[in-house]
Amino acid sequence: MCGIVGYVGKKEATPLLLSALKRLEYRGYDSCGVGVISLKDGRIAVQKTPGKIQNLVDLLKTKDLPLSHVGISHTRWATHGKPTRSNAHPHADTSGKILIVHNGIIENYQELKAELQSKGYRFTSETDSEVIAHLIASFGRDDLFKAVQKTLKKLVGSFALGIISSDFPDRLIAARLGSPLIIGVGKDENFIASDVSAILEHTRKIIYLKDGEIADIRSDEVCVYDLSGRKVPAKIQTVSFKLDAVQKEGFPHFMLKEIHEQPEVLSAMLSLRLKKGMVVLEGIGLSDTALVQCRNIMIVACGTAYHAGLVGKYIIEQLACVPVAVDVSSEFRYRSPIIDKNTLVIAVSQSGETADTLAAVREAKARGAKVVSICNVVGSSLTRESDGVLYTHAGPEIGVASTKAYTAQLGMMYLLALKFAVIHKKLSGFRVQSLVKGLKEIPATLKKILKDKARIAKIARANAHFGSFLFLGRNVNFPSALEGALKLKEISYIPAEGYAAGEMKHGPIALIDEYRAVVCITPESDTYEKMISNMQEIRARKGKIIAIATDGDTGIRQHASNIIYVPKVDRLLTPLVTVLPLQLIAYYIAVARGNDVDQPRNLAKSVTVE
Ligand code: M6R
Repeated sequence: MCGIVGYVGKKEATPLLLSALKRLEYRGYDSCGVGVISLKDGRIAVQKTPGKIQNLVDLLKTKDLPLSHVGISHTRWATHGKPTRSNAHPHADTSGKILIVHNGIIENYQELKAELQSKGYRFTSETDSEVIAHLIASFGRDDLFKAVQKTLKKLVGSFALGIISSDFPDRLIAARLGSPLIIGVGKDENFIASDVSAILEHTRKIIYLKDGEIADIRSDEVCVYDLSGRKVPAKIQTVSFKLDAVQKEGFPHFMLKEIHEQPEVLSAMLSLRLKKGMVVLEGIGLSDTALVQCRNIMIVACGTAYHAGLVGKYIIEQLACVPVAVDVSSEFRYRSPIIDKNTLVIAVSQSGETADTLAAVREAKARGAKVVSICNVVGSSLTRESDGVLYTHAGPEIGVASTKAYTAQLGMMYLLALKFAVIHKKLSGFRVQSLVKGLKEIPATLKKILKDKARIAKIARANAHFGSFLFLGRNVNFPSALEGALKLKEISYIPAEGYAAGEMKHGPIALIDEYRAVVCITPESDTYEKMISNMQEIRARKGKIIAIATDGDTGIRQHASNIIYVPKVDRLLTPLVTVLPLQLIAYYIAVARGNDVDQPRNLAKSVTVE
């Protein structure tokens, strides 16, 4: 979604704001802009444009901004109004002295706008955000902080805000409610940003602004207040991940880099969480007794994280015999879910800022459930609202198409399933140890598959012309089929559907002909024979089959046009392995089609609006 960067310090603001903004490109956007306070005459100057940051850089070559030490910049992902220059941020008030950038949605903007227009404030955009600049102006120019405070009290919705004013040229005001915003604390300079990756090259010292907090930021001071104006302690945390984590390091795309990071991510997780053959879930926030008391589990998540949740259902039910329901977060909160204090809600989210998942968690808590989140981003909103947090520590995921975060979420699901199986005494010690051993072998297995990526790339390119794809899987690999289809459609824009293979005859078979490619996820499993029957049905209708099969399965050759072999692993663990070729297929097809793999059209990395 939208990205914010702000700066107050001693360096030239514009180049710094642009390079930091570039690091937020992955969030997804369709216009951008930058605004600064001129060092020479204290005036506000703004440049903005539809399209990419490079357009802004090119624009600034001819329409330079004045030298400045204070400024704000923004990438906008259009919600209210098209991605045009006038709708791009920053937005100014009518006098041009107050400048704001905003992430989130102001739900009551129409009534605020009407009120402000009746008082003579002139609007120049179709956005909901512009009201904020005029509203601040309407509270007078003597005290910027107070004017912002009064403004925030009138806003309904969600926001992360960066504000500057030519009346206070040495200050940057920041505020958040429901949309992420962090403050980077430097030496004689301070920053605001939508996430840490934007400012990592300048500082690792971070204040995670909480909902309802406003920060008054100067080059040598950061003061944080609550909405009533009371000063609150601002805890500075030092982030540990390196700058490499947000750079491509020789890979053509972040997505490919992140696909390659999966063995390491999983291996680090397992060595942290498996001690002497026992699962250690530090952070879960619930004792084993409290976990045993949970009669049922509900998993809430969106997109790829939802697919990880679906795998979670299969394995927790199979290993621990605890009933698990999985909901897409946006459905959960509106369907009156039956939950109480004996329900454990597990919220899965890479970013921890997904608005629907946050709303689901609030709903669950209001109904008395305990909430544990599986999350990648330390300090994110979700982690603060959960009773316990299981961090996946996959490192920053920049590619919009989630890959390593998914594998890490799966890894955590297996650990959770084992934990539940042990505390419910549902598995023999031998089976637990065999699964632990199997899990530990997965990173090496993934490395083997990655070595074969040239072959997978060849198969992907040979099939890149198909106009539509069907992905089929059964049991634990039904969610893999959903994930394979999601990956492909996100970055290649080819219509793709994932189905439980058994459902094929109930509809999708009507689509099969020589123009349809079908990816069949067919590792050795209890449902292998059934998958083979499905493949025969597809072949009989001239569908083109790409099979993902277990090493040594020569029999499958008579059924599939292309086969991607993966090493044999425990049947229950196969989703950890089959997903890798699916990610690579999607990646290489998107590359073959010349698409922007890391920033696919219309998509945002973290969806902070409902
Ligand atoms: O940050 P989250 O895990 O909560 O995000 C959920 C989805 O928006 C996300 O998985 C999305 O579907 C990805 N683009 C998938 O590649």
